[in-house]
Amino acid sequence: MQGVYVSSHPLVKHKLTILRDKSTGSKEFRQLVRELAILLCYEATQDLALAPRKVETPLAEAEGWELKERIGLVPILRAGLGMVNGVWEMMPDAEVWHIGLYRDEHTLRPVEYYNKLPIAPRVQVCLILDPMLATGGSAVATASLLKDWGAARIKFVGLIAAPEGIRAMREAHPDVPLHLGAIDERLNEVGFIVPGLGDAGDRQFGTG
Ligand code: PRP
Repeated sequence: MQGVYVSSHPLVKHKLTILRDKSTGSKEFRQLVRELAILLCYEATQDLALAPRKVETPLAEAEGWELKERIGLVPILRAGLGMVNGVWEMMPDAEVWHIGLYRDEHTLRPVEYYNKLPIAPRVQVCLILDPMLATGGSAVATASLLKDWGAARIKFVGLIAAPEGIRAMREAHPDVPLHLGAIDERLNEVGFIVPGLGDAGDRQFGTG
């Protein structure tokens, strides 16, 4: 599907399988979320613009490059938090903007409770980070919020997605590419991704 990129990297497949395993404990789960986020963001940032930059090596002058675009990492609280730090180490100049949304367990609609975006964007590319794309409500709301704020380019990076969430994002934000670890079968009657991995927030923070 156009705009939907599912990683085919063996490391992603291997780590995602351990992540799904119900016997994987919180510590390992957090480590895997961190590593998968790095791998998926690596793939999601392949088209970042570069500017030429010369450097002096100890031997001679070399033609090189530097990133032209500034990146904003936008984790959706809570579960997106675990996707920040590893990616941030690779992109130390990125700005991090937290969006707090939780899903009302009856309506499954996202409820906003935290938003501290600055008055105007100072970055050219925003990466929305959230392990789960279920109904898509949280991702759609976050992308709308970022667009209203003035964000120019937005990408969504998630570990597991349901077809329902992908459809919702493609309909509401066809200009936002989705970079995913896997696409699962469906949502169950309470809006959980099946087979999925359970509740990514609870499993990371030990609150399940
Ligand atoms: C989960 C998940 C996403 C959202 C996905 O968060 O981390 O943010 O649900 O569902 P959606 O696509 O149907 O909107 P949750 O609401 O459980 O909050 P938490 O991360 O604080 O646990």
